[in-house]
Amino acid sequence: MHRVGLIVALWMTAGAVAAQQTADTVAPEAAGAGRVETSASVAASQQAKAEGRAVAAQDWMVVAAHPLAVEAGADVLAAGGTAADAMVAVQAVLGLVEPQSSGLGGGAFLVWHDGATGEITTLDGRETASLEATPRLFQNEAGEPLGFFEAVVGGRSVGTPGTPALMAEAHARWGRANWPDLLKPAISLAEEGFAVSPRLAMLVANDAERLAVDPATADYFLPGGVPLAAGDILRNPAYAETLRRIADHGEAGFYTGPVAAAITEAVQGANHNPGLLGPLDLAIYRVKERAAVCAPYRGHEVCGMGPPSSGAVAVGQILGMLEGSDLAALGARNPESWRLIGEASRLAFADRGRYLADSDFVPVPVQGLLDPAYLADRAALIADGGVLEEAIAGEPEFDHTLLWSDGPTLEQPATTHISIVDSEGNALSMTSTIENAFGARLMAAGFLLNNELTDFSFRSHEGGVPVANRVEPGKRPRSSMSPTIVRQDGQPVLVLGSPGGSGIIGYVVNALVAHLDWGMDVQEAVQMGHLLNRFGIYDLEEGSEAADLAAPLEALGYEVRLGAQTSGLHAISLGPDGLLGGADPRREGVALGE
Ligand code: DON
Repeated sequence: MHRVGLIVALWMTAGAVAAQQTADTVAPEAAGAGRVETSASVAASQQAKAEGRAVAAQDWMVVAAHPLAVEAGADVLAAGGTAADAMVAVQAVLGLVEPQSSGLGGGAFLVWHDGATGEITTLDGRETASLEATPRLFQNEAGEPLGFFEAVVGGRSVGTPGTPALMAEAHARWGRANWPDLLKPAISLAEEGFAVSPRLAMLVANDAERLAVDPATADYFLPGGVPLAAGDILRNPAYAETLRRIADHGEAGFYTGPVAAAITEAVQGANHNPGLLGPLDLAIYRVKERAAVCAPYRGHEVCGMGPPSSGAVAVGQILGMLEGSDLAALGARNPESWRLIGEASRLAFADRGRYLADSDFVPVPVQGLLDPAYLADRAALIADGGVLEEAIAGEPEFDHTLLWSDGPTLEQPATTHISIVDSEGNALSMTSTIENAFGARLMAAGFLLNNELTDFSFRSHEGGVPVANRVEPGKRPRSSMSPTIVRQDGQPVLVLGSPGGSGIIGYVVNALVAHLDWGMDVQEAVQMGHLLNRFGIYDLEEGSEAADLAAPLEALGYEVRLGAQTSGLHAISLGPDGLLGGADPRREGVALGE
């Protein structure tokens, strides 16, 4: 039995908390009621992050996007719960305090390394298209694709949520704690209130116009017509009631009964863009266990989520194309390193566009795409020091059917990643999302509904040929989410993942290469400035050391674009000296461990 940890809930007065603030924490001037950050452990972790240091621990660790969620998970782990138990507590709190990113109304992918058996597997809690949906869901009368936000806001883009079923399934398989207890921290925070974080307030202010469309959403995020401000104490009794139903009835409390009715009413009754999701879609929703997709890299096994995510295939392809290059000798500041990474990424994105979709609906050549011989051929295309004029999909071993590529997906500031290691050697990597920030901007039963269906291709055909990732009834949209567990000799050595839309693949690759090739610890790896190349243009993170590479990359022949790269990488490394946790300084997350 695990000893009770040192994580003590030291809920402090607003004044004491304010004295301990670091740059990214809430200044809860408006407090007086409700729960405010933070414990001594969180303050220490925030301090480490501000100074660029990893957080060290021996037995267990949890890294996620909000201190209150991380504390809920840490309490579970300190009391002897498993990583799966802790995830349930973390996700339930994130759905409240980081509602723009993930929650009961969204979907998620989970990678699990089992400490007892050494097995690795994945759970697919991706949203599904309604059984009523057709490939023309996102087209106008003339068959032309809708504009992105025209499609996002309202009921049309809402897929059947998968996260509640995934929480229940992970707990049933690998959990030990009493299910209702895991939801209690979120229930009491929802009832007592929590301080709105600066990031949530900033995103509400930026999105006020869209949040105003649905009355329930407007009431919550724009009370009295005024956007929530950082430090406001926010309560959500409807969320508490929904969680109580799930506590009492398990996932049936979500997929049937009043919560299900509230969801279908919000979708079908939306005043803008009413959608198709109905009671049957909810009632038949199932999480799918899928084999982990693993690729070799420098003596490690990099494992993640296969279709309907493009994550593990793209990450594995990029690493496979880089395997023959000595990135360690070249170094992190060398434009040649980034030429190789950028070109490999472009080739992987070309394959992704053509082949990756829900493999339950279209054949996806996962093995062919990761075949070392195929990747060696692809790597040969970028070996001569130049920049490809055009990156086109390859021809992996495959029964070539009539599939086509679609365009790039947009990157938006939502989604969240949870990394957990428990004291029994289990490792959990889960990326969770409602897609766009605030999803479909529709609220039901205290949570936001996703707009995940806009991850499908809006075009059903290109030049008369069907697109692999077209909408089909019951199908899951293609994702870029890349929850990853890296193993060596069968043991996990690194757990990581990130939000960031199609940028996720590059964020994860960058952190992997930083850690495995350039010897950076997890904190250094997650905070390194980003360079991403998906479709030709090289995106460099403004204000970071990556921007210094603009001129050398231009000299190589790239068009370079500077901008924000808001990853939310959360990583844990496992080594002979114990655990190290790293939280992305671009967001509000922290690492806690013992
Ligand atoms: O599944 C996907 O790939 C996207 N829906 C994830 C969206 C996302 O990461 C938004 N990001 N910051």
